[in-house]
Amino acid sequence: MASISDATQGFVDLRRHMWISGIEVDLRRLIWQIAVTAKYISAKIHESNRKFAGMKNIYGEEQLALDRASDEILQSQLRYSGFVNAYASEELASIITIGKGDGKYFVTADPLDGSSLVDTNLAIGTIIGIHRTPVLEEGRKNMAAALYITYGPLITMVYSAGKGTHEFVLNREGEYVLSQEHIRLKDKGSIYSLGGLRKDWTDRHLRYVEFLEAEGYKLRYSGGFVPDINQILIKKGGIFTYPALKGSATGKLRLIFELQPMAFLFEQAGGSATDGERDILAIKPQSIDQRCPIYIGSRFEVDKAKEFLNS
Ligand code: F6P
Repeated sequence: MASISDATQGFVDLRRHMWISGIEVDLRRLIWQIAVTAKYISAKIHESNRKFAGMKNIYGEEQLALDRASDEILQSQLRYSGFVNAYASEELASIITIGKGDGKYFVTADPLDGSSLVDTNLAIGTIIGIHRTPVLEEGRKNMAAALYITYGPLITMVYSAGKGTHEFVLNREGEYVLSQEHIRLKDKGSIYSLGGLRKDWTDRHLRYVEFLEAEGYKLRYSGGFVPDINQILIKKGGIFTYPALKGSATGKLRLIFELQPMAFLFEQAGGSATDGERDILAIKPQSIDQRCPIYIGSRFEVDKAKEFLNS
């Protein structure tokens, strides 16, 4: 695989990477703008008082002032980009048109995922999907790019525009510097990250988890989707699941805002993602707030999940 960092032998920032990779100009400008927006969101996190806003989002969850501020920052930045047609956010009840609705891309956002962790100072994140056609369509053929930002001890950004999955670190000068190019998952990892309460798991899921435990997998779960997923990707293997639960056949996580962007990034890194039967990227969403079970990670663990769930 062609390595830009080897060819340039040194410092490669996000813009240069996208340019050398041959990503279409409007798409790379949009990705760049979103990456810049993450700096403003990070600044908000720093200045926040971590208080609740006293409002609920469409899922009935309490919205942090920070959630809402992050959404507003993203929305206003996208308005000025000139490339966005419509914007769907986990914080909003419906899809909104941007400008005259004549932009090229359709953007989905979970502006601040894992915000319940803000008070504990664990890592949190932003998840973005960029689509070529309206978002309520099948994911794989529709997605142009996906990215996430991790706000942890460092700010990192992982993106794919269909030419591999790459990680960048925000340096002190405010530049996103390439840290890992063409991330490749191993076929089999050694960590697992399990959402949902054990008492609510189905028997088949429980048997799958017992298989992982017998194989010696180590538990790694913070309760923040972005850092939990990031850990699997950066450690190059393992499995994250938030399964169907006894009282909730669709699990907890949102297909459009959380799962399809991550599935895109994982497929581009040689991993895969399923709801137990279908590839996450093959699912045609029925509504923007659709939830879906997920098994995402390296191929061995995802294939095993399918085996256990369908046996
Ligand atoms: O969707 C929000 C979220 O906080 C995710 O970031 C995370 O993976 C999940 O919910 C955690 O859910 P639970 O609190 O049930 O473990």
